Amino acid sequence: MKIIFYEQNADLDAWLGGLRRELPDADLRVWEPGDTAPADYAIVWRAPHELFANRPDLQAVFNLGAGVDAILDVERKEPGTLPPNAKLVRLEDTGMAQQMVEYATYCVLRYLRRFDEYDALKREGRWQKLPQHARESFTVGVLGLGVLGGEVAKGLLKLGVPVRGYSRTPKTIEGVQVHAGAEQLDAFLDGVKVLVNLLPHTPDTEGMLNARTFARLARGAYLVNVARGPHLVDDDLIAALDSGQLAAATLDVFHTEPLPPDHAFWTHPRVTVTPHISAETLREESIVQIAGKIRALARGEPISGIVDFRRGY
Ligand code: NAP
Ligand code: GLV
Repeated sequence: MKIIFYEQNADLDAWLGGLRRELPDADLRVWEPGDTAPADYAIVWRAPHELFANRPDLQAVFNLGAGVDAILDVERKEPGTLPPNAKLVRLEDTGMAQQMVEYATYCVLRYLRRFDEYDALKREGRWQKLPQHARESFTVGVLGLGVLGGEVAKGLLKLGVPVRGYSRTPKTIEGVQVHAGAEQLDAFLDGVKVLVNLLPHTPDTEGMLNARTFARLARGAYLVNVARGPHLVDDDLIAALDSGQLAAATLDVFHTEPLPPDHAFWTHPRVTVTPHISAETLREESIVQIAGKIRALARGEPISGIVDFRRGY
């Protein structure tokens, strides 16, 4: 079988070495512009359109991340970019769920125990005790209950705070109050104190973190966006922070990455910025998962993690 690999920022020796160890019989090469030789599988992250052109033999494209928005956006704008018979397969967890649980847990604890405010007081040299937030009303709402959001919701239960979850279709997660579908969105949002976003970026979810959404949360709520930048209406966040409707936000993803130097988020005292690190693609786990799926496909067996183009994730 022939496999092409493309990831601009990867340690190529390490990736290719691991893939060759798992798939010793594969003919594996790094794709470079101008390479139109046949390939059965592609393993890619943010690949140029050209990589996909004229590849009727391509059976599957493995996306080196959970989010497939970039690749689907190309297909939406230029239909037919992806070979018609190729499955698009996303990473399923591969160590990202634990990273997301850690990131969300840190944010919720930081806000619950007011460490962000103590940091600000310390900068002013002030010794001042603040009243504790009531844990039982410090409701965390997790938007998206998929591979990552589901684990985050379960992980947050351990903090003893009420946890709500929101998905497109109904789910059951013990201890989590689950809402599903657009008609239950307001019930999910009403009174939430920390909103954690783990939705995929699709036409339906773009801009969901907006003024209307913020207005339904508890007064002085917190936002944690670890999904995609276009979920957030940046100006609505600034307005909600300035009005006091939101107390603070932690943002890991942005409309433009790296976040432009003149963006207001850099200097806003109540916005925490991290550079898209909440859950990184772990090489070894990803190699093992992708190689296992390639072996299964080669045997004609079904695999999980296939993206539904119609749903957009
Ligand atoms: P996933 O398994 O596809 O789960 C998506 C969840 O969102 C599902 O529960 C789905 O509902 C729900 N959903 C989708 N569209 C919806 C809508 N219109 N209304 C309500 N719920 C909707 O995705 P995942 O693996 O958990 O990853 C989520 C996202 O995290 C990725 O798409 C990516 O953008 C982001 N991410 C970010 C980083 C980072 O480092 N910042 C790392 C990894 C991933 P159903 O369950 O009903 O289908
Ligand atoms: C990272 O953002 C991913 O989608 O895996």
